[in-house]
Amino acid sequence: MTDLVVSNAAQLATPTEHDALEVIPDGAVAIDDGVVVATGSTDEITRAYPPENAANSIDATGQTILPGFVDPHTHAVFGGTRADEFTAKLEGASYQEILEDGGGILRTVRSTREASRDQLVENLVAQLDVMLAHGTTTAEVKSGYGLDVETELKLLEAIATADERHPIDVVPTFMGAHAVPEGVTADDYVDRVVEEQLPAVAAADLAEFCDVFCEAGVFSVAQSRRVLEAGQEAGLAAKVHAEEFERLGGSQLAASLEATSADHLLQATDDDIDALGEAGVTPVLLPGTAFSLGTEYADAAAFEAADVPVAIATDFNPNCYSQSMEFAIDLACNGMRMRPAAAIRSATRTAAAAIDRTDGTGTLCEGAPGDLVVANVADYQHLPYNFGVSTVRTVVKGGEVVHR
Ligand code: NIG
Ligand code: FE
Repeated sequence: MTDLVVSNAAQLATPTEHDALEVIPDGAVAIDDGVVVATGSTDEITRAYPPENAANSIDATGQTILPGFVDPHTHAVFGGTRADEFTAKLEGASYQEILEDGGGILRTVRSTREASRDQLVENLVAQLDVMLAHGTTTAEVKSGYGLDVETELKLLEAIATADERHPIDVVPTFMGAHAVPEGVTADDYVDRVVEEQLPAVAAADLAEFCDVFCEAGVFSVAQSRRVLEAGQEAGLAAKVHAEEFERLGGSQLAASLEATSADHLLQATDDDIDALGEAGVTPVLLPGTAFSLGTEYADAAAFEAADVPVAIATDFNPNCYSQSMEFAIDLACNGMRMRPAAAIRSATRTAAAAIDRTDGTGTLCEGAPGDLVVANVADYQHLPYNFGVSTVRTVVKGGEVVHR
């Protein structure tokens, strides 16, 4: 018996190996044992997999079936918020001025150290609920608001518990090198990350990736390299926050380490883009961050011209307070001028590559995880065209309806 048949959709749209987005009119999908067994026209699918014989079925008349969204870059676990800094930023304070004054990340570190593990789990589960309602079925979550062994472990434990409790698949990243805590030099702090935090995280098997904020005034290229190489030795694949405010060399570092992704990239040059492409590093663009900081967007067209596919992500964090991949897709199109098909691919298949999920995650190809979104639009282009509202009606994870 089939687990789930979704049929009668105005469209089923999925990235494939060769197509940015393959669109099947009057589309349908059958899911069994948690994976996609077939997609095609409603006629074909319902003949091979009659909905009345399936454990569950959805009539998607007038709606569009898409793969579940993959959010490959979030800082979704923290204590407190920074709503007042939002006002200060609107009055002209820059992100880096706020950080230099002990605000920004360092302020979230203080409230995160005060929060209990259970409180952090509750906070994260609440954020995952919002993500899921906007179509995210897989999300990466970074630590990095602890900056000491005890709190970094507390954050990663909270991520593991939230993952068990929530339908979203959560991919954990250790980011002890997120900021330099007060009263320490960057070099001394890097020693602590490499000698104390990383070994504890690896021993507890709590992270898959290691990330670093390679930025002027935070961690230099040499310091970032030290952290990421130590991470790789401990079995954690590398990710880099690169060329966000200044072009420091994080992209070239990511390329030389064959990192899984390099993220932000607002100041990346054509050489940087080529280096990432050649090394197989997935670039991750974060339009919500530029939107909330009121800065320019990353140059999505330059990546397209170089034929280097990008992922997009929310970067959800206290400075960029949006959990919605639908909104990231809106901004990719309306802000970065990406085409709707490219933006949806960036939010699904390429986003999965940015967290090393190459089992078909982010597609509805045969054998892919049965993770999908039914959006209340008759054409996929309406998703970003109709910006600022949620069009997601039903979310399916591993063949189970998890939101409707
Ligand atoms: O990706 N740039 C560093 N980390 C986050 C911001 C975190 C924060 O401000 O709390 C980012 O934008
Ligand atoms: Fe980030």
